[in-house]
Amino acid sequence: MRVLGIETSCDETAASVVALEPGQAPRILSSTVFSQIEEHAAFGGVVPEIAARAHVEALDGIVEAALEDSGVGFEDIDAIAATAGPGLVGGLIVGLMTAKAIAASVGKPLIAINHLEGHALTARLTDNLAFPYLLLLVSGGHTQIVLVRGVGDYQRWATTIDDALGEAFDKTAKMLALPYPGGPNVEKAAQSGDATRFVFPRPMKGSAQPDFSFSGLKTSVRQAATAVAPLSDQDVADICASFQAAVADTLGDRVKRALARFRDEFPDCETPALVVAGGVAANKQIRALLEKLCAKNGFAFIAPPMALCTDNAAMIAWAGIERLRAGLVEPDAFDFVPRSRWPLDSVSAPIVGSGRRGAKA
Ligand code: KG4
Ligand code: ZN
Repeated sequence: MRVLGIETSCDETAASVVALEPGQAPRILSSTVFSQIEEHAAFGGVVPEIAARAHVEALDGIVEAALEDSGVGFEDIDAIAATAGPGLVGGLIVGLMTAKAIAASVGKPLIAINHLEGHALTARLTDNLAFPYLLLLVSGGHTQIVLVRGVGDYQRWATTIDDALGEAFDKTAKMLALPYPGGPNVEKAAQSGDATRFVFPRPMKGSAQPDFSFSGLKTSVRQAATAVAPLSDQDVADICASFQAAVADTLGDRVKRALARFRDEFPDCETPALVVAGGVAANKQIRALLEKLCAKNGFAFIAPPMALCTDNAAMIAWAGIERLRAGLVEPDAFDFVPRSRWPLDSVSAPIVGSGRRGAKA
């Protein structure tokens, strides 16, 4: 089984070919990612119109490069999988229409993939992980804890009621005049800072439901920055360190609750696991905290390689393979309209404000 995947939901234009042969581990034959970061940097966040235009310009070449790298042609591909949501609708239209055109012209099935499902199933591509497991997705657009029970079978246990975690990092960076994208720069500045100098709130800490909230923390950062302005390098470092400590504390509390709930619901699961995905998973302090938490609670901690944690098309191609072999391919995928909002779990009640995209759209 070979599937071509296409990803265009935010600011990465990506294409990939993934193969699965009977009795063998899946193989990523190619994975090409073109990041638009430089085109958005001047604006301190992703600008939807610039993103859509950049996808139009880049996608054909990226698909061609992915096919060339993989050594297979369209005739060797069994299906085309494309991200159809959630994300910026301009980019989604470009990716899905391109996929539809390819699928129609080569006479192969089209599979419309939920971007979050791509993240959710990556650990089965990299680590052959068995269901059920927990996913912590922390990116610029999403902050969720999801129970992954099977292909197409997800339950959202927690989400943010306001900003995504990556967005909180990016906005903090912007307030402190650190370059975009903010996450890595906040982490770097925090290394030489005093995490005890500012006492920032730990939003939602202690609440029974493991949801997240970061906008109050962002407000506190703004107030602290205003109070000590003009900011020296040390002030910036101290604010970053204090911000990161608050994030780690609240994240640890939320994840701990989710691990406990998993234990309650799956007492017989012998190999419980927590998978992380999203750009924020690159943060060393957050990684170390999660690793420790998992070890303490008897969970395996699974962090796929960074290139597969952040947005890529291999996860979309893989989700296509998972759907194909589970017999979950919609016969009318050509009618699928891109969805800027598309919850993985259609059962859990929507939370007002969740998934709202700010600086990082
Ligand atoms: O998954 P991702 O690459 O893209 C999307 O959100 O689509 O995540 C990007 C986010 C940005 O908000 C970025 O600031 C954050 O991940 N990020 C980090 C770090 N590296 C990237 N946040 C905290 N610490 C980092 N080291
Ligand atoms: Zn993503």
